[in-house]
Order: sequence, then C-alpha cells, then structure tokens
Amino acid sequence: MTLTQRTANAARLAEQAVVRCRKLASFSEDVGSLRRTFLSPPMRDVHREIGTWLAPLGMKTRIDAVGNLRAIYPTFAPSAPRLLIGSHLDTVPNAGIYDGMLGVVLAVALLEGLEGQHLPYAIEVVGFSEEEGVRFGIPFIGSRALVGRIDDALLEKADASGVSVRNAIEQFGLDPAEIPHAVIDKDVCAYIEFHIEQGPVLENLAMPLGVVEAIAGQTRMDFVFTGRANHAGTTPMNLRFDAMAGAAEWIIAVERTAKSISDLVATVGSVNAKPGATNVIAGEVRATLDVRHSKDDHRSRAVEQFTHSAQEIARSRGLSISTTTRLNQPAVPMSATLTAQIEHAIGDGCVPHRMASGAGHDAMILAEKLPSAMIFLRTPNGVSHDPAESVSVADLAKAIECGLQLLHQLSSHSLFQPRTPSA
Ligand code: HGY
Ligand code: MN
Ligand code: MN
Repeated sequence: MTLTQRTANAARLAEQAVVRCRKLASFSEDVGSLRRTFLSPPMRDVHREIGTWLAPLGMKTRIDAVGNLRAIYPTFAPSAPRLLIGSHLDTVPNAGIYDGMLGVVLAVALLEGLEGQHLPYAIEVVGFSEEEGVRFGIPFIGSRALVGRIDDALLEKADASGVSVRNAIEQFGLDPAEIPHAVIDKDVCAYIEFHIEQGPVLENLAMPLGVVEAIAGQTRMDFVFTGRANHAGTTPMNLRFDAMAGAAEWIIAVERTAKSISDLVATVGSVNAKPGATNVIAGEVRATLDVRHSKDDHRSRAVEQFTHSAQEIARSRGLSISTTTRLNQPAVPMSATLTAQIEHAIGDGCVPHRMASGAGHDAMILAEKLPSAMIFLRTPNGVSHDPAESVSVADLAKAIECGLQLLHQLSSHSLFQPRTPSA
C-alpha cells in the first residue's frame, strides 16, 4: 500500500469513527443528553451495534459475566499471544461522546485497517461495562473482572435504588457465578488503550498524540456533615447547627488547600442535602471528594489535611462528621517497553509527547497483571465529561496510522511471538 493509499485509508476510517461514536452516543438512559451507566438497558443496544461492526471481520462478540464486550480477531498460531485493545462503554451523566467509546471504536478501526491481514498474535477488542463509577460509586468494575478483583463486598454494593451489583448482573441476564471466566487467560500478553486526553496539554503543545507514562492515583470519598434540621424562619442564626453551611466552609477549605499543593487536584463534585427544602435548615449534607496526584504520598497527605479540616469545621459548628473511602487507587506507571514502541510508532508520522494522565483509566487496572500502555488524542479546548467534548478527524487519522504502524511493529517484538509449546 502506498503512503497516499495508507493516508486515505486512515482518513476514511477516521470519518467512520466519528459517525460510530455519534451512533453509540444515541444509546442513552436520558433524553437529550448522554448517560449510560453499568448494565443499563442502552448498554444492550451498544453491544448489538458494535457486534454489527465486528461481524464482517469474522469476529464473534461475547458479553462476559460483568457485561464487558469481548471479541477476538484470531491469528494463525492456535495458542498465540493476544493483545487486548479497548476502553470503557459506560459514561458520566451529560457526557461527551468520545470518553471511553472512542477507544473501542478505534480498536475496531485498526482491525478494519488491517484489510484482512492477520498478525503473528491475536487481538481481543474489549468494551468495559463500567469505568466511571457513576452507578455504584466504585469505578473500574469491568476491568477489575479481567484481573480477578471482583469480590463479594463489591458484588453487594447497592446503587441509589438499593439494587446490588450482583442483582444488576442478574437483571441484565448474566450469571455472577461466571465472573471467574472473565479473567484474562495465559495467552493475553499486553493491553493498549486509545483515549482522549481530556485535558489541555496536547492542545497547548499543538500536538495530535501523546503517550502516557503514568496514570495519577486517585482517592474518592464521601463526607457526611450532620447537624440539626430546623425551621428556616424561626431559628436564630446563633442557634443553628447548619450542615450545609459547614459543608460549604469545608468545600472552600478544600479548594484553598488544593491550590497550595503543586500538581494536586481535588474536587467536590456532588452535594446532597437532607431534607433538601428551601425553608428547612439542612440537617445532613453528603459531599463527595475526588483527589488526584501522580505521587501517592502527596495524595494521601492531602487527604489527611482535607479530613482534618472537615473535623475542625464540624467541631467549631457543633456538627458531626463521618467519612467513607470508596476508592484508594495508587498511581500506576505504564509499561516502558510498550511506551517506547508507541513513541516509535507515533514518531513515524509526528512528534510524540510523553505525559502523565490526571484521569483514571482501565489501563491502570490491567497494568496490575499486564504490560499496559495508552495513546492520548488531543482534546480541543481541553473539555471532557461534557457534551462539548470533541476530537478532530485529522487527529483520529493520525491515531489510526500510528496504531497500524504499532501493530506491525509489535509483530516482531518478543512479547508477541507465538510461544513454542513447552517440551
Ligand atoms: O474520572 C476519571 O478519571 C475517568 O474519567 N474515569
Ligand atoms: Mn471519564
Ligand atoms: Mn474514560
């Protein structure tokens, strides 16, 4: 294939990728905006749609016991190594149409870009059922299943309507007893994930692609401030135990502290007041906290500071405070071998940029068991987790060209050679 044909091919696949992301975004729990949480009904439509893309490639789609979409692009050697390429199919509320989905759409585009050619290793496309942690407050349910980290405690976690993870799996028509079969088998040798950067770095550098060196660690917690609900009209200001005012003072303290620690980000993303009426002083306020840093000791020190300030503020206002840690995910380095291979593949067409990821990704879970790596695509205006999230077709085409270059490069890498059966 000439360079011109290769470029034209990548451009065609890039245009198609945008159309496919738009199509997947039409499967939502909400009218007028995109929200698709763990094993929600629209996820079934997504599985069916992706299945129609994979069928012409001769690939059978299966849904594993936690709702991950799995499909293998075979190779000629029976027990050849297998590369996983994928990302997540769930979304945040009012989501953009590329976060997660793009990684699965690009995996399929690369297989189509092979134009029937098979490599010395197999490729498995994975669409994870849950990465954002929206429904159960715990992220990475899909990728945890692949590394054997689904335990009974997780299965018993309930969503806002009291449905447990186990119930949700059964209601989707899947069998929790089958979860052990979702674990990756011995042939799987590596994981690669394409994802939008979701931040401003590549755009500010005017670069289309980045290679991720490490993924920041993250802590997710609930802080519950408890005071005393009372009448808004008859309770003098000096006799109040106002949980909302206490939470508000703490939220400002979180922002002030986070600004004083370099490279740290801390977010109170949701606040829920009870009883939640205009004319009632809030008796209880539940606030969520999300803390990220590339160094785990900096993150845990900051979490201690945020917890201490919540206790001080509560004490000074006659409130009580309780905290629940929902996630304490260490920072994860990406595979140096794969990162170097990606850098070389990107370098074949443009200048690679090594960077860290502030966003969490399934790659940080797969990295517990596999050499894992990520390729970032530039995010115009650095906006994500919002309908304004976008990606350029030109950058998509570069990602596809880089991805195809990478697949061919890996064909000669020792990690991807068929293993000689042990004598
Ligand atoms: O929140 C995150 O880091 C990612 O978008 N799940
Ligand atoms: Mn996300
Ligand atoms: Mn994502």
